[in-house]
Amino acid sequence: MGITVGICGAGQFARSFIPLFQAHPQVEEVRLAEVIPERRAREAARFGIARTYASLDELCDSDVDAIAIFTQRWMHGPQAVQALRAGKHVYCAVPAAITLDEVRELVRTVEETGLIYMTGETSYYYPVTLYCRERWRRGDFGDFVYAEAEYLHDMSHGFYEAYQYSGGPEWKRTASFPPMLYPTHSTSMLISITGARLTRVSCLGYVDRVDDGVFRRDVSLWQNEFSNETALFRTSDGGIFRVNEFRRIGVSGGSSVRLSFYGTRASFEEQTNARVWNTLVPSEQEDLRSLLECRAMPVPEADREQLTAALRAEFFTGVSAVHPIERLPASFAGLPNGHYGSHQFLVCDFVEAVTTGRQPPNNVWMAARYCVPGIVAHESAKQEGVLLEIPDFGDPP
Ligand SMILES: NC(=O)c1ccc[n+]([C@@H]2O[C@H](COP(=O)([O-])OP(=O)(O)OC[C@H]3O[C@@H](n4cnc5c(N)ncnc54)[C@H](O)[C@@H]3O)[C@@H](O)[C@H]2O)c1
Repeated sequence: MGITVGICGAGQFARSFIPLFQAHPQVEEVRLAEVIPERRAREAARFGIARTYASLDELCDSDVDAIAIFTQRWMHGPQAVQALRAGKHVYCAVPAAITLDEVRELVRTVEETGLIYMTGETSYYYPVTLYCRERWRRGDFGDFVYAEAEYLHDMSHGFYEAYQYSGGPEWKRTASFPPMLYPTHSTSMLISITGARLTRVSCLGYVDRVDDGVFRRDVSLWQNEFSNETALFRTSDGGIFRVNEFRRIGVSGGSSVRLSFYGTRASFEEQTNARVWNTLVPSEQEDLRSLLECRAMPVPEADREQLTAALRAEFFTGVSAVHPIERLPASFAGLPNGHYGSHQFLVCDFVEAVTTGRQPPNNVWMAARYCVPGIVAHESAKQEGVLLEIPDFGDPP
């Protein structure tokens, strides 16, 4: 007998995950909760889901074993706590939470209930992260000195459409989500490679200048006027880490999430159309573009209409040569994958954790280490870069 998984939120992102949960050999049944009735009916029909619920509350009252949360990005912390308190294991799209109090409550609830919680951080399985994690494990970088990670995603590259779909008529209030409250694609790369924590931060914000009524103090739910934020972190191993979270920026091409990582012996450098291994010896320089290239995936008809070209390229991308595909169930072959080959691994990690009781790599303590630095960074930006300490919420047991 497999587990029963309830998906909460039938938006654009859940669609990529429903068929994977359905195909996992240890998942018996997938159900769906969605507050918007037409969306609920349409997505249930599309994926052949028999049992549906009108809300997370109803799903929590049901007998599902686990809940996978794919709701809007500012809702996750309290919803995950609610599901855990109802006795459900929880998978949750990033970010895990957006205030320190929410993070504290989330970690405490996992510790008290003993249930599995996993943050669905796609960057953890990006080819660049997999490659650097392995070379770090082998000691090839030497000591960590400095890294720069960034998530560069201009509003015009699919965000207007996604935020209107997500926020409804009031979408401008929430489209101004502070960039540093969604730092996890950047922070998780370094943290999951070296295992070091981010301990201190100074961050600056860029006050938006585009006249589209989005990043405006008087409109924003968070009174946020920064469309771009840059943070400089101290790492617990004595290194330095620069993160750019940009939502109004003139770039295209390459991955929107990027990492460059410098050690005392070797470095990995990434920019638009460049991925290079570099050492003290010029002849050892290696162009890694083809090794880390992800295969394109066919895009289903319905998604072709709804997603812009920029989002299609990310929502549907297969694996690269460095993905450990031997770990995946055979039933995943030929199914959709996305965000640079990560979706299938994330589903696999969660089901494995629930069925074995072993913590997934992206457990709640890691979720806290990915998102808390950004929460503090945004506070620093509001105070024009004042240096702030980053609290830690502990290690896995
Ligand atoms: N690379 C990544 O990791 C990545 C990529 C895309 C999206 N995401 C994350 O995935 C999440 C979902 O994104 P999306 O674009 O699909 O959002 P969306 O707004 O399209 O969908 C969210 C859905 O959740 C529903 N919902 C909200 N509260 C609910 C409740 N209490 N009960 C039932 N349903 C409820 C909404 O009605 C909506 O249909 C976001 O947090 C986003 O940040 C992550």
